[in-house]
Amino acid sequence: MLLLALLILLAATLLAWKWQGNHWRRLGLEAPFGWPLVGNMLDFALARRSYGEVYQHIYAQNRGLRYVGFYRLFNEPAILVRDQELLRRILVGSNFADCADNAVYVDQQRDVLASHNPFIANGHRWRILRADLVPLFTPSRVRQTLPHVAKACQLLRDQLPPGRCEAKDLATRYTLQVVASAIFGLDAQCLGRRRRLAPPSRWLEWLAPLFQPSAWSLLETVSLLHSPRLAGLIGHRYVPLHLQQWFSELVAARSAGDNLLQWLAASKRGLGQQELAGHATTLLLEGYETSAMLLAFVLYELARNEEAQQRLHMELDEVARRHAGKLIEQVALGELRYGEAALLEALRLHPAMQALQKRCTKSFTLPAQKSGASSVLNVDVGTVLVVPVQAIHLDPQLYPAPHQFRPDRFLDQPPMGCRFLGFGAGPRMCPGMRLGLLQTKAALATLLQEHCVLLADEDECGVEVSPRTFLTASSKGIWLRFQRRTPLY
Ligand code: HEM
Repeated sequence: MLLLALLILLAATLLAWKWQGNHWRRLGLEAPFGWPLVGNMLDFALARRSYGEVYQHIYAQNRGLRYVGFYRLFNEPAILVRDQELLRRILVGSNFADCADNAVYVDQQRDVLASHNPFIANGHRWRILRADLVPLFTPSRVRQTLPHVAKACQLLRDQLPPGRCEAKDLATRYTLQVVASAIFGLDAQCLGRRRRLAPPSRWLEWLAPLFQPSAWSLLETVSLLHSPRLAGLIGHRYVPLHLQQWFSELVAARSAGDNLLQWLAASKRGLGQQELAGHATTLLLEGYETSAMLLAFVLYELARNEEAQQRLHMELDEVARRHAGKLIEQVALGELRYGEAALLEALRLHPAMQALQKRCTKSFTLPAQKSGASSVLNVDVGTVLVVPVQAIHLDPQLYPAPHQFRPDRFLDQPPMGCRFLGFGAGPRMCPGMRLGLLQTKAALATLLQEHCVLLADEDECGVEVSPRTFLTASSKGIWLRFQRRTPLY
């Protein structure tokens, strides 16, 4: 009797799995079978490939389709969008309002400060929080952050280490130095001579490891992107408790001055102490890691591509000649067009977010999966739509020789539309893009004005991207060497 009950239970489970794994096929889509628990993301679950690589594989295997039905972790049916026109509709156009929410799970009680981040907030609350931050990033406001950037560049110049150096570590020290100064008006002591005398910088100790691979990072990424239940089980916090307390203290003790926190405090909406702490947390966390990774990757690509580095050196020399050797000022930085193109090209090859994941909040219709066919797909509320940024950036039909570093792709080009999504697109696009580009360009100019950058090891065979992290990170670091050069001006 017990055996019969077990057999019936087993048969029912298998049928339920089969039913779930054929969700898209039942709706008439071309789609792979979804396996229990892992869906089509086994390699990500086993930390063999990053989630961006898994999506890239699905994207590449389905040429000719506008979108693909597939299954995320926990066998959740989702749609991966391939077609440029559909991407535009979803990110920028008529369907934006139907799927404007980011599919990330953060518990508002456990993560009080992170829940103020527009990236995490949804619906009407997102609109309000984003509207608080956008005025900080107008061209004139970003120009006002230049003194903070220039001060950090001076420290960076004085501190270039002799011999091998890990580029991501150097870049993180620099961006932390910039954001601590620009947001709070504080010296984070991550760079410079005083650092050697002072106790280890808390900024460096607490913030530098935050988005890096660790024993826990795969579980944390899965919690953030796939499972609020797992997040509850492991007590995951996007902003760990000690950082929440420290940020709140920093905000409470803030001093007057020309910095982002003061501009926020003076905003018309009259922000409370907790809202200020929430916004400061957003600016800090969004402000340093993505820019540091971009700076490290552009140095790496230039080290591997001698011709591109020579062109950048020529541009740096020409612009420096026109500006009496001074590059870290508004007009000179604006003239570094090849430098900016190199940054965008590095971001194309190594996007900070390998995919954007949006959740449908109002049912809408997608056209047929194949052009020419007449059937349509009704997208249900709750369905996740994946925008596979890394796959799009490396699609040979959109970028010839997609793995080659060619900054020219970004020179004198019409708008890229949804071919380039390094900062997202549409109403949810990164509001800090100008500041991100300003601080990375200034550091690039500072480092390469009087130096060449080289790979630390001749037999370097590429950066290994961590399969465990939410933001793109390298598993073993990015090892480079700087060699003095004589500028021609
Ligand atoms: C090179 C540096 C940076 C890169 C590559 C980058 C990239 C991105 C990307 C891909 C998104 C998601 C867009 C989407 O969902 O469609 C985003 C959102 C965001 N970024 Fe950045 N970012 C950078 C720098 C910054 C800086 C410096 C700040 C502020 C100090 C910032 C603040 C934000 C915020 C607040 C959001 C959420 C926007 C929303 O959902 O409305 N970012 N960023």
